[in-house]
Amino acid sequence: MEMDINKRSLCCQAGYLPVPLGCVPVESLSGLEIYLATGDGYSLYSAVDLDFNKDDSQRLLNSGVEFVYVSVRDHKVYYRTMENALQNIIADPKIKEEKKNEILYATAMELSNQLLTIPPGKKEVERAVNLARATVQLIMKDKNAFQRLYEAFNHDFYTSTHLVNVCGMTISVAQKMGLTDMNILQNLGTGGLLHDIGKIFIPHEVLNNPGALSPDQFEFMKTHVDRGFEHLTKVMELTAETQAIILEHHERMDGSGYPRGLHHDQLSSLGRLAGIVDTFDAMTSVRPYRSHTFSVAEALQQIEDDAPAKFDSEIVHAFASMVQNIIPVDESEKTKTSPSCKEKQSVTMDASGPIHTQYYFRIPVVLQRLHKIKDKLILGPQEKVIAHKISCLSLGLLSDRPFELDQNICIVDTKLQSIGLGRLLAVVIRCQDHSDGWYTVDAKFHKPQPPEVIEKLKTITVIREVSHLA
Ligand SMILES: [Fe+2]
Ligand SMILES: [Fe+2]
Repeated sequence: MEMDINKRSLCCQAGYLPVPLGCVPVESLSGLEIYLATGDGYSLYSAVDLDFNKDDSQRLLNSGVEFVYVSVRDHKVYYRTMENALQNIIADPKIKEEKKNEILYATAMELSNQLLTIPPGKKEVERAVNLARATVQLIMKDKNAFQRLYEAFNHDFYTSTHLVNVCGMTISVAQKMGLTDMNILQNLGTGGLLHDIGKIFIPHEVLNNPGALSPDQFEFMKTHVDRGFEHLTKVMELTAETQAIILEHHERMDGSGYPRGLHHDQLSSLGRLAGIVDTFDAMTSVRPYRSHTFSVAEALQQIEDDAPAKFDSEIVHAFASMVQNIIPVDESEKTKTSPSCKEKQSVTMDASGPIHTQYYFRIPVVLQRLHKIKDKLILGPQEKVIAHKISCLSLGLLSDRPFELDQNICIVDTKLQSIGLGRLLAVVIRCQDHSDGWYTVDAKFHKPQPPEVIEKLKTITVIREVSHLA
């Protein structure tokens, strides 16, 4: 299978971010370095001191240039600009739907990260509402939007990703089930973006606990629902639909959920929907503290098995048929009960030694497998993969090909070389088959990399999340 790397790469590639020139006010690019794509790379078009202006923009547009690029170093300004221009971008017929999805998803990720950094104020909540509105517009306009969004948001990011995924899936399923009122869909999406915001009040060591939570920790974790709701209602008035998503996403039909243990009719249909989407995304996401990630088929099977006791059968059916329509599901996977995971380490890689920092990001890279033939080390052909997490000790990859344990690999990527991560040699310590054509691979470096070099990653890509592993 040839990997379509573009299918899954966010618009942040090789340290540059695309700006659709016709959709953003040119003033928003003032003070930034502006680059043009030149076949294989990017060349500087306008330096910081040569303020990019309307004439420059018009000249480029006239010559058929629709996108300019800014450095990832300017990602904060970039994403705010994109956020403000989302309505224009989604309405622009000249921009391809795939590109709109990429920009929307990446912008949503940036906002989601910010929402989880400090308890959001009124401004941030209003930004979440606007982003939910843009998501609704995109989904209403493009009948393949859910598929495109799903392709963008598969396995690789964490709490912030979860908020964005739940937003996109909740709107999509509700619309699929016949809800067409844009305001209600927007309120649902807002609920998706904010539903776990209470986790900001839960300590990192509980959220990313590599083992099972103690009963006390679990009770504390459950408080994220009310903590988030209480915070948000102090900030601004929430619509009934947004409240339902936040308050009921952990409630279950048989009363076994939390925080209130609501039963059947006490649960709103929107709360029931949120519970299904939330569970599906949590099961299929790769998390640093969980050794097994469910395949799509396994997750759907589990949710179907739990209906009607815990989940509403009608909504489960609509959700499952929607997911199955866009993702090939191997039915044989549904009967599996044991993890489809070859593991050398059961919890997380590097589960010993001092605490170190792990960064989550996403860049396409190239690697080669090392083969020993008659005592000689031979490099195999180049393979494109996606690097998605790194620490001083190890690297996490997404690949469309499996890897044997103990396979030595060499990363020969120029972007990583540019920050001092030269020919990286590593050995595969874990390869997990997601049964959807993708494998998550953990590889341990032959030699630990200096923390200051790992830190430089910030200069070539957007860091999505940071965790501190023991
Ligand atoms: Fe939650
Ligand atoms: Fe959640």
